[in-house]
Amino acid sequence: MTTSMYGEEFAAIYNRRWGLWSRMMWPLIAAHVPAAGLRRPQWLDLCCGGGTLLRLAAEHGYEVTGVDQSPFQLAHARLAAPAAQLVEGDILRLNLGREFDVVTCVFDSLNYVLTARALNAVLRRVRRHLRAGGTFIFDLKTSAGFSGETSSVYEYGEGRVQFDCAYDARKKLYQLQVRGTVQRDGTSCSFEERHLQRAHSERVIAGALARNGFQFRTFDAETQGPVHADARRVVYVARLGRHPQA
Ligand SMILES: C[S@@+](CC[C@H](N)C(=O)[O-])C[C@H]1O[C@@H](n2cnc3c(N)ncnc32)[C@H](O)[C@@H]1O
Repeated sequence: MTTSMYGEEFAAIYNRRWGLWSRMMWPLIAAHVPAAGLRRPQWLDLCCGGGTLLRLAAEHGYEVTGVDQSPFQLAHARLAAPAAQLVEGDILRLNLGREFDVVTCVFDSLNYVLTARALNAVLRRVRRHLRAGGTFIFDLKTSAGFSGETSSVYEYGEGRVQFDCAYDARKKLYQLQVRGTVQRDGTSCSFEERHLQRAHSERVIAGALARNGFQFRTFDAETQGPVHADARRVVYVARLGRHPQA
């Protein structure tokens, strides 16, 4: 039985079912990053998961590095994006000792950062890994997005997974329990994971960005246009103006 997040079984299911979000978002992302030419801009994807965005960026001429805390997600990323440099680690402790032209963190990965203080700490790390004038693109699921989630069952060839979710709108905390069985080498194997995510308020996000020297624009992830009050996911395109004091 596995209990840590994005263990072997869930990572396999995740990349089979949800791995393609960044492909849908690529037009919006590509419109806001420097074009790759003779100079290959350096791209860092935080919480890279199974490497879909790394693969796209590499295919478009960027030199790519991915960070994720799940070794099982990184195993998928290694297959999806063989040219990527991959680092296992926690984005709260990110310290690669170099700067990039672009940093991304997509598909509600930053909702896993649970407090305003921790979100600010991540942005401070991002700032240290970006060149002045560099771009940080991320998205966050909103309260409306989490409220709309429903429990479900996913059945496929090798297994069955049950997703039970609950959203506490007052605390803005979303809990997902994943329980499943998969067939491996002819035996049935059970797994269980608990995920906790937060819907950060616009005030907290804007404050953390401003404090770290970013100017930003927002887009509704579903329409890739202006953000409406009931948007379920918001994409932030943030530019680092200068390197403020740490
Ligand atoms: C919803 S998935 C998104 C994966 C990928 N960005 C995509 O678009 O498919 C969230 C990912 O964030 C990773 N993650 C969550 N918290 C993290 C942390 N503190 N440091 C590093 N990775 C983290 C998980 O392991 C998982 O791969």
